[in-house]
Amino acid sequence: MSGVRISASILAADFGCLRASVREAEEAGCEEVHFDVMDGQFVPNISFGLPVLEAVRRVTQLPIDVHMMVAAPERFAKAFAAAGADSFTIHVEACRDVPNAVAHIRELGMRPGIAINPETPVSAIADYVREVDRVLVMTVHPGFGGQAFMPQLVPKITETAAAAGRSVGRVVEIAVDGGIKDTTARTAARAGATVLVSGTGIFDNPEGVHDGVAKIRASANGDSERMA
Ligand code: DX5
Ligand code: ZN
Repeated sequence: MSGVRISASILAADFGCLRASVREAEEAGCEEVHFDVMDGQFVPNISFGLPVLEAVRRVTQLPIDVHMMVAAPERFAKAFAAAGADSFTIHVEACRDVPNAVAHIRELGMRPGIAINPETPVSAIADYVREVDRVLVMTVHPGFGGQAFMPQLVPKITETAAAAGRSVGRVVEIAVDGGIKDTTARTAARAGATVLVSGTGIFDNPEGVHDGVAKIRASANGDSERMA
């Protein structure tokens, strides 16, 4: 079975040549750009923000998902919509009034997503899966690229997919973020992921971006299992 979408996390890209990196990911077949925003408060790190998003928007036609690792992320929804975000994914742990924020994101013309940290149970988002277009399951602690996929979270991906599948009359994407490479993509896809976010698996792949994307897709599709 195919159909998994690959989202390139540009946190791992070379910022000295971001245009080339984004284009390379697009040419390699990535279906989305994943844009990690960190505020040094919700997570112990700072990344990039609006001016960088504007620049990325100018160099790609791909949809851009903004992953807000930011306290009270709804404060910035309007500005990110104006800068070119297609979807806006907020953490359930960071937002006091999720339904209101989700409605606001939709009003601004973006697709709302809800992200969930490793420690947070799926029950924390049960009331919201019907409202959002995407759930982003973190398989590392947010804040840094290049961490190892936490295999103990695989059942949580399945649980999230089941919760989203119960939402009436709409398809909710299940994105998995953290440690996705050719060695973990199959596990995540089998567990129910429909979007695979990868940073170092794409941009730090020793054989290059095209090879990184191809290997993740082949793994997700179970190509090696079919050949065996
Ligand atoms: C982590 C970020 C991820 C990160 C993934 O806080 O949310 O999107 O860029 O990087 P890799 O694929 O290297 O784990
Ligand atoms: Zn992310």
